[in-house]
Amino acid sequence: MKTQIRQPIVTVAGHVDHGKTSLLDAFRGSSVQEGEAGGITQKISFTKYPLEQIKKACPLIEKQGIKLEIPGFLFIDTPGHAAFTNLRKRGGSLADLAILVVNAKEGIKPQTAEVLQILKANKTPFLIAFNKIDMFSGWKKQENSLKESVESQAINVSQEFQESILTFQGNLQEHGFNSALYYEISDFTKQVAIVPCSARTKEGIPELLLVLCGLSEKFLRERLKLSDTPKGVILEIKKTKGLENVEAIIYDGVIKENDEIIVASLNGEPIITKVRSLEEIEPLSFKYKNTKEAKAATGLRMHLTSKEGILSGMLFQKVDNNLDKIKEVFKKEVSGVLNLDKNGIIIKADSLGSLEALITLLKQQNINIVKAGIGPIGKVDLVSAKANLEINSLDSVIIGFNVDIEPDLKKGKVKIITDTVIYKLIENLQKWRTERQAEIEKERLMELATICKLEILHKYMFRNSNPAIFGIRVLSGRVRTGLPLINEKGEEVARVKGLELEKESVNQATEGQEVAMSLPGTNFERQLKETKYLYSALSDKQIKEFKKNSDLLSSSELNTLSEIEDIKKKTDS
Ligand code: GTP
Ligand code: MG
Repeated sequence: MKTQIRQPIVTVAGHVDHGKTSLLDAFRGSSVQEGEAGGITQKISFTKYPLEQIKKACPLIEKQGIKLEIPGFLFIDTPGHAAFTNLRKRGGSLADLAILVVNAKEGIKPQTAEVLQILKANKTPFLIAFNKIDMFSGWKKQENSLKESVESQAINVSQEFQESILTFQGNLQEHGFNSALYYEISDFTKQVAIVPCSARTKEGIPELLLVLCGLSEKFLRERLKLSDTPKGVILEIKKTKGLENVEAIIYDGVIKENDEIIVASLNGEPIITKVRSLEEIEPLSFKYKNTKEAKAATGLRMHLTSKEGILSGMLFQKVDNNLDKIKEVFKKEVSGVLNLDKNGIIIKADSLGSLEALITLLKQQNINIVKAGIGPIGKVDLVSAKANLEINSLDSVIIGFNVDIEPDLKKGKVKIITDTVIYKLIENLQKWRTERQAEIEKERLMELATICKLEILHKYMFRNSNPAIFGIRVLSGRVRTGLPLINEKGEEVARVKGLELEKESVNQATEGQEVAMSLPGTNFERQLKETKYLYSALSDKQIKEFKKNSDLLSSSELNTLSEIEDIKKKTDS
């Protein structure tokens, strides 16, 4: 029997509003975009796109006598407001190919960059739909050939277009991708193809499909061979007509009603369940139809006997007789994704794919992760974050992508940051860390610096020098070992070497206490005989910091602070 080739799975990704859904509409000849709430795609959807439709939308294929072996495409539309949905299968990305949609007038935006990073990490081949070319004012659509169209625009239009494309290419280069207009490329493995297009005027649509077909036939043959074992990815657990269903994509094999399947689980044992009934997505539609079996690659709605523990983004496959081996493989696969560090922050996401995307992007920023999970932020996460307070308080943070926070969580000093956009999450995390770092420094400064005023008890002079030992009374604040002291004239005296309270050595003494103090390098007779008071030596910066935080000081400390300031002023002048 001839090996069967399945449809390549093509993810359409890109920044918000750059035209992903509109492009798919142009492929399908539909108008889904207009029907979307606020024109925004809310969730992943897929379109089964048969060969006949490719031929219809791209007459070039028949005209040029191109033979296609692929039975069509399975397109995945992704919401641009959420980060690139990193759907994964065993050993890599679920997407065989990707179309990165870029608004030609805006170029690379934060989410475009995010998609580029993920595509690079997954090594997914992709092409660029350089969309909305109709927006270059004066652009004239040319019916015959896109190349001719690009080359025959009026000078000013052409200039504007060339400028955009050059800037874009330069930016792509910074992300590590070499690119060129598709008709200038001889080796598609070395350069990313840019196809100028307009979802509005449909210019460039046939060419986009043509390049997609070319890439599929040329580079994906091995990857697209259908095997005997049905394998897939869970997209979403959904309630329709009172029934809980699982929406999924099957990317290999043929799945049948009553098949027993194993689903990977994030923590612990994989889940075994059974396909009670099966529906498959209809071509060029979002409607499902009952079926006894479905062949990859396609979109499914499954009714499973048990859904306990099943999460979106999880992999599944049909159980055959080597169940234990599959279990092992599944466990390894999940732990491979969650390649965590010894110390670091805690992260949560709504699916395995987005969790992986988040991990990839955080690692690129050199942020360590100690724990990663799927689902809402709860008590267990808080416990881990609280433990981090002891280790490194910069890590006492939980970040959540597209997840809720369980009610009544007692956060304490733990920081929780959630968002539906990954780059904003990372931005906010970095911002919080910078602020926290400054706070830590301040705390350290405040702790190191101490305000104090000491009265020398002249009748208790125990030793004149090496070191000088004598009695003092703390009039205000706190004296501690290591603290540098000045006299009333602002002259440096010494750093406190030791303190003794009732013959016991102590680290510090506070207001009201009388202690024996030792000062190295000081000769009491010569230097301190005429001195009544000693003060802590403070830098200008420390004085400023204390003044800023004056609510932390007692009134006697405040008085001492202004005395010290006066002494410094006098010595400076
Ligand atoms: P999200 O799903 O929210 O990320 O957006 P999207 O990338 O799917 O973009 P969408 O298709 O919703 O298009 C956004 C807006 O751009 C809509 O108003 C479209 O009509 C418009 N648009 C899309 N493609 C083109 C184009 O080629 N030319 C022009 N002029 N407008 C376009
Ligand atoms: Mg959309």
